[in-house]
Amino acid sequence: MENLATLYPAHIAELNRRVAEITAREQLAGLVIHSGQPHRQFLDDLDYPFKVNPHFKAWLPVIDNPHCWLIVNGRDKPQLIFYRPVDFWHKVADLPDDFWTTEIEIKVLTKADKVADLLPVNLQEWAYIGEHLDVADVLSFGSRNPEAVMSYLHYHRASKTEYELACMRKASEIGVRGHVAAKSAFYAGASEFEIQQAYLAATDMGENDVPYGNIIALNQNAAILHYTALEHVSPKQRLSFLIDAGGSFHGYASDITRTYAFEKNLFGDLIAAMDKLQLDIIDMMRPGMKYVDLHLATHEKLAQLLLNFKLVQGDVQGLIEQGITSAFFPHGLGHMLGLQVHDMGGFLHDERGTHIAPPDAHPFLRCTRTLAANQVLTIEPGLYIIDTLLNEFKQDGRAESINWAMVDQVRPFGGIRIEDNVIVHSDRNENMTRDLGLHG
Ligand code: GLY
Ligand code: MN
Ligand code: MN
Repeated sequence: MENLATLYPAHIAELNRRVAEITAREQLAGLVIHSGQPHRQFLDDLDYPFKVNPHFKAWLPVIDNPHCWLIVNGRDKPQLIFYRPVDFWHKVADLPDDFWTTEIEIKVLTKADKVADLLPVNLQEWAYIGEHLDVADVLSFGSRNPEAVMSYLHYHRASKTEYELACMRKASEIGVRGHVAAKSAFYAGASEFEIQQAYLAATDMGENDVPYGNIIALNQNAAILHYTALEHVSPKQRLSFLIDAGGSFHGYASDITRTYAFEKNLFGDLIAAMDKLQLDIIDMMRPGMKYVDLHLATHEKLAQLLLNFKLVQGDVQGLIEQGITSAFFPHGLGHMLGLQVHDMGGFLHDERGTHIAPPDAHPFLRCTRTLAANQVLTIEPGLYIIDTLLNEFKQDGRAESINWAMVDQVRPFGGIRIEDNVIVHSDRNENMTRDLGLHG
């Protein structure tokens, strides 16, 4: 693996460059970035799992410690106020000593409510970046998550540094390890719940460490787009398996989907065709291309695939215009990936925050950006038998375009999604998922 210690200083230099530019433009002294606070469960003395502010983990791989603060002005060494209470009830975080600590000045905070003693005195001139606006008010910050700063940071965050790309390759590696174990468990007869356990064991992640709730769906459950139920009992007949699960590394995510047929059959042929379609779309990616155009090209290819498999009849354009491809593939082609699974900035046209909405006919598309080097995106076409969507056609003339007998044949298998994580480079695409040997 690439040496993170070597790559990290340039990462900090780039983040500092961004902060220097936007704070000068907005006449701010700097940014104070809050890691967050625990959220208490109603009527309980337990907290929900802590999820750190993505703007905080953009600077350093501290993802599990609330009440920490980062003070950055783009010129000075970033200062980390590291929360380390005197507490005999809980594990107290060790003082960090890692590849990144030489680039950061660290101060220790022992009482969360004493942070003002360690923050700049003139907070009127600083912007608070974080979730807890009431805390920002108590501390008398001059601004809280100012829109111009947020748009700027979200726009530029799409362009990953070499350090970030190294972290994302590692997150991909962890996810692929889990997928290999999950595939074996599926063919060995495991239940959805048992496959989940196999995935977590292979990746060394707990349920709160995965970047999003795993989708592990056998048979017809694969048609439920956000299926997270995890049946403990195996189905009597084993037909198909869809798994959408990723890995986390230093706060960065991978987001990978595979679909398998238990036996060699028509559904296996459909998977192979979708796999080819997905790779063809990835081959079209290049700087300057609009992500929306990739999504529309996917609908064209999908229409042809549906015709080839006799799931529908008609012509490619007609199937798209009548919304028939959208019934089989109702979600977007993919999204930006990074510190968040659905990384911020997917709709931003420029650093001022100009928003490009998805086309009216494709409201669930999560990315309308123009591709550029060093962006990381998922490409995840799907094909599902979703009766609530297909049944709408029974009310009108579009029913004739559907070959219902074929639909009935595919329904028990649920659906297909194939999702890879791709880095767009200036001269090539890097499919991190396939490079690690995870094929369709
Ligand atoms: N796993 C969520 C997604 O694919 O977008
Ligand atoms: Mn996914
Ligand atoms: Mn995804």
